[in-house]
Formats: sequence, structure tokens, C-alpha cells
Amino acid sequence: MKKYTNLILVGIIVILAVVLTGTLVFLRNQPPQSRATQPLVEIKAMEPDSARWGINFPNQYDGLLKTKTNNVATTYGGSSKFSHLTEDPRQVLLFAGYPFSKEYNDDRGHANALIDVQSIKRLNLTPGSPTETHATCYSCKSSNNPALWAEMGMEKFDATMFSEMTASGKLTQSIGCANCHEAGTMRLIVTNPALENALKAQGKDWKTFSRQEMRSLVCANCHVEDYFVGKEKLLTFPWAKGTNIEQIWEYYQTTLYDGKTFSDWTYPGSNTPMLKAQHPEYEMFTAGSTHFKAGVSCADCHMPYVREGAAKFSSHDVHSPLLNAEAACGQCHTDVKYVTGRVNEIQDQVYKTKLATENAIIDAITAIKAATAITSSDAALLDEARQMHRKSQFLWDFVSAENSMGFHNPEYILKILAESTDLARQSQMKAAQAAGDPTLLVTGIYEAMDPKPEPAK
Ligand code: HEC
Ligand code: HEC
Ligand code: HEC
Ligand code: HEC
Repeated sequence: MKKYTNLILVGIIVILAVVLTGTLVFLRNQPPQSRATQPLVEIKAMEPDSARWGINFPNQYDGLLKTKTNNVATTYGGSSKFSHLTEDPRQVLLFAGYPFSKEYNDDRGHANALIDVQSIKRLNLTPGSPTETHATCYSCKSSNNPALWAEMGMEKFDATMFSEMTASGKLTQSIGCANCHEAGTMRLIVTNPALENALKAQGKDWKTFSRQEMRSLVCANCHVEDYFVGKEKLLTFPWAKGTNIEQIWEYYQTTLYDGKTFSDWTYPGSNTPMLKAQHPEYEMFTAGSTHFKAGVSCADCHMPYVREGAAKFSSHDVHSPLLNAEAACGQCHTDVKYVTGRVNEIQDQVYKTKLATENAIIDAITAIKAATAITSSDAALLDEARQMHRKSQFLWDFVSAENSMGFHNPEYILKILAESTDLARQSQMKAAQAAGDPTLLVTGIYEAMDPKPEPAK
């Protein structure tokens, strides 16, 4: 009897072992569990409609939608659409003769980019007017762009007139998923051909960039200094010599078109060839700022991880980090109140310094205009004064058009403003010297103005 019991026990053990082994083999051969949610729909390459992507990624889509209705202002930024010209009328004088003296509004959230550009008076000029703008202005405003660039080429896109592109109905979406992500893999990519070209000009290939580098570079598809080249108005980043302000200035001074340096407009009455800077957040941040050197990316502060139930994802509700500082700064700084307090102090100091620079440039412009009206003025000295005004105003604008009011790189920004103010004062002295008229050294012209200038008509 005992003998049989043993046999039965051994039999049971063998059967159990076989079943267990079989189960393990079966489980091992199952496809690996995907970490992300399974795609519900397939998204075609460069799909312009963010709602399609949103079926697979509702949390990110929700965030993007929120950027439409954000309207909270901070001291110097936030999502309200205030006018820079009303807030600081000096800019009406600084941009005289250029459309930015008519209308210049602060930035809002990504979902408003398309309607905001279409409502700007300075862009909606009558079709056929000699100063009509090109479709190049649409480059950073729509998720239709990547597919359109692929289909018609950036050259043809930029050669199209703004009004013609508006009327074509080809742009239906504001900024969306296709501006930052590759469908399918969802990795971050360069979508703007002008960025691809600018990196190539420096011998760089973004495909070799690390993930952390891409978390900033993806913003450089749009948040950069750019200009429009030639009759076809080809979108170009002035980066061939590097991306800091010194290198960009050298690029503009040495890149000639028909033997002349590039200018956006000529200042009325002083005949200075001027440059207008555009939102150089990427260049300013990456020019050795404390955070950049510490390996922090744009997305760390502007798209921090958030939790909703069991899901953890990057906030796609991109806006001022001062409005969600706990999530944006608290991931690295224990004392969030202290660091946001520092932001306010830095911004107040940069703002005051920036206004002093503007006053100096306005004094210089006034002197150059007066010297230009005097026929006996020394032409060579006067030209030196103009060149100093050109540089001074570009340096100032590089700070002013940058949207962080100094926070992205405080020391560097204050150094740029100091150099700009110095150049403005030197420019004024040169103009007085050219005219041989010491009364042109008068200062405080803007402060004495009453009433202050109003936006141009
Ligand atoms: C260390 C955190 C941090 C990093 C990194 C950072 N920013 Fe900012 N950014 C800020 C703060 C703080 C402000 C000021 C917001 C305000 O004044 O309300 C700001 C302002 C801005 C604004 C204007 C926002 C507004 O409210 O109008 C833009 C646009 C912007 N940053 C883009 C970028 C880009 C692009 C990068 C990367 C190249 C970047 N930022 C990197 C913290 C950061
Ligand atoms: C302005 C650029 C930008 C836009 C527009 C954008 N994303 Fe992202 N997205 C990012 C960045 C930056 C990350 C962080 C990637 C990383 O850390 O590698 C990210 C991450 C993601 C991730 C990975 C998970 C996570 O949340 O970190 C998914 C999924 C995603 N985005 C989906 C979308 C969808 C869907 C849309 C459109 C509704 C969209 N994104 C629009 C920049 C963008
Ligand atoms: C496809 C172009 C594009 C890309 C890519 C892009 N932005 Fe923007 N961004 C814009 C434009 C245009 C605006 C202004 C929209 C308006 O005023 O209607 C803007 C506005 C903003 C604002 C101000 C929002 C507010 O509510 O005031 C912040 C902050 C910002 N972007 C940060 C980023 C960051 C960080 C990245 C990278 C992760 C990024 N952007 C990528 C074009 C872009
Ligand atoms: C990913 C990490 C990270 C995030 C996010 C971050 N910081 Fe920092 N921050 C750092 C590091 C690293 C330093 C370098 C000094 C240090 O080690 O404390 C720093 C330094 C600073 C300094 C001192 C600057 C200086 O030049 O001495 C201030 C002010 C500051 N951060 C503000 C902020 C604010 C405001 C936010 C949110 C909008 C923020 N930081 C988000 C990592 C971060």
C-alpha cells in the first residue's frame, strides 16, 4: 500500500512540475505589455488635427486645449493679450516707420496662435499693396505647416502672400501635436525646415541630440530669432556663426545682400538701417544660463510632470511657470516661495534697466535726426552714429522681444543692456560731433514728452 502512495505522490509532483513549466513557457512567449496605453487609432504622418492625436492621448490634448482660454496675467507676462505700445509708449518711437509701432501685443497660449496672427492689423494689408506680408509669418502658428512644407516645400510656402495663404483655407489648425511630435513613435522632432537648415549651417545634426536636449530644441522650432531672406522671404535663422548675441550680430554684419547688410526697415528721418529682433528665448536661455548649464530644459519649467488619477504626464498646458510654480519649480527647489520671489526681483531690475536703455536710444535717435537735417553735417561721423544706433537698438530688442523679462539668463541680459546703453550714448555724441552742435547732447527727451506717443495709425 505504502509503495502505491509513494508512486501516486511522485506522479502528482511530476504532473504539477510539467503544468508549472508549461505555464511559465506560455507566459514568457506572450508579447511584452506596452507601458503606454495601446493606440486606439492610427495617426498619419504630420496629421494636422490635434483632436485625432487626442483620441490616443487625451491628457496631453486636454492640456493643449486649456491654452486657448488661459488669460491670467503675471507682472511681466502671463496669458493676457496686453499691448506693449500702450504699456510702454517708448516703443512707439523706437519702432517708428515699422508696423510694430502700430500694434504689438504680448504672447498668449499655443491654441490662439493662428487667430492671433490673423487678427494683427499690420499683417492684414490690402492684397497687392507694396508692403504686403508673406505667408512666412504663418511659419510658427499652425500644425498644418509640417504637412504643407512637405507637400509644397518651404520656398514655395514662403513665396506665397499672407492674404493668399489665408484665403486658400489651407491653415485651419493652431499650434498642435504635429509641430513637436513624430506620429507613431511620438518622439520629439525638428519640424521647421529653417531650424534644420540653421543646425546644418553649424555642422549639427539634431538626430544625435539627447532626449534632454530635445526637450529644449523642440521649442526652437519657433521661439528663436529669425529673418526673411530675399524677394521670396525665405525663413532663416541667423545662426551660421553660433546662437549667442555676439555671433548673431556678427552674422548680420557680414552676410551681405547686393553688397549691403540686411535690414528690416529704414528709420524715418535718420536713415538708419534697422533690425527687428523676434522672441529669442532659445538663444538667450542656452547662452550659458545657470539653468541651462545645470542641464535644465524648457520643458522642465514650462511642461512639468503632473498627475491625474493614476496617470502621470507632461503638462501640455504651456504658460508662465509662475502660475503653477509648485509643479514647475518645486520638482528641484525646496523653497518655491523664495525662487519665485527671485524671479520678481530679477524682472523688476531688468525692466528698469531696459527703460533706461530705451531713453538713451530715443535721445540718440533725436540727435541723429537733427544732424541728418543739417546739410553741413560730417557724413562719415553721421554714418558712424547710425551704425551705433543700429547695433544699440538690436541689442536692446534682443532683450525686449525675449519673453521672460530677463529671467532666462539675468546676468547675460543685464550685460547686453549695459552695452546697448553705452552704444546709444556714444551714438548721440557722434551725431552731435557730426553736426558740430552741442545742443544735440540734450538727454531725457522721452521723460519730458507730454503727451506721450500713441500707437501709430
Ligand atoms: C528655470 C525655469 C525656466 C526654463 C528652463 C525656461 N523658462 Fe521660460 N520662463 C520662465 C519664467 C519664470 C518666466 C517668466 C514668466 C512670467 O513673467 O510670468 C518664463 C517666461 C517664458 C515665456 C513668456 C511667458 C509669458 O507668460 O508670457 C516664454 C515664451 C518662455 N518662457 C519660453 C521658454 C523657452 C522656449 C525656454 C527654453 C529655451 C524656456 N522658456 C526655459 C521659466 C523658465
Ligand atoms: C510645443 C511642443 C509640443 C506640442 C505642441 C505637443 N507636445 Fe507632447 N510633448 C512635448 C514635450 C516637450 C514632451 C516631453 C517629452 C520627453 O520628455 O521626452 C511631450 C510628451 C508627450 C507624450 C509622452 C508622455 C508625456 O506626457 O510625457 C505624449 C504621449 C504626448 N506628448 C502627446 C502629445 C499630443 C497628443 C499632442 C497634441 C494634442 C502633443 N503632445 C503636443 C511637446 C509637445
Ligand atoms: C510651432 C511653433 C511653436 C512651438 C514649437 C512652440 N511654441 Fe510656444 N508659442 C508659439 C507662439 C506663436 C506663441 C504665441 C501665441 C499667441 O500669442 O497667440 C507661443 C506662446 C508660448 C508661451 C506663452 C503662453 C502664454 O499663455 O502666455 C509659452 C510659455 C511658450 N510658448 C513656451 C513654449 C515652450 C516651452 C515650447 C517647447 C516645449 C514651445 N513654446 C514650443 C509658438 C511655438
Ligand atoms: C530641473 C531642475 C530645476 C527646475 C525645474 C528649476 N530649477 Fe532653478 N535651479 C536649478 C539648479 C540646478 C540651479 C543652480 C543652483 C543650485 O544648484 O541651486 C538653479 C538655480 C536657480 C536660481 C538661482 C539662479 C542663480 O543664478 O543663482 C533661481 C532664482 C531659480 N533656480 C529659480 C527657479 C524657478 C523660479 C523655477 C521654476 C520656474 C526653477 N528655478 C526651476 C534647477 C532647477
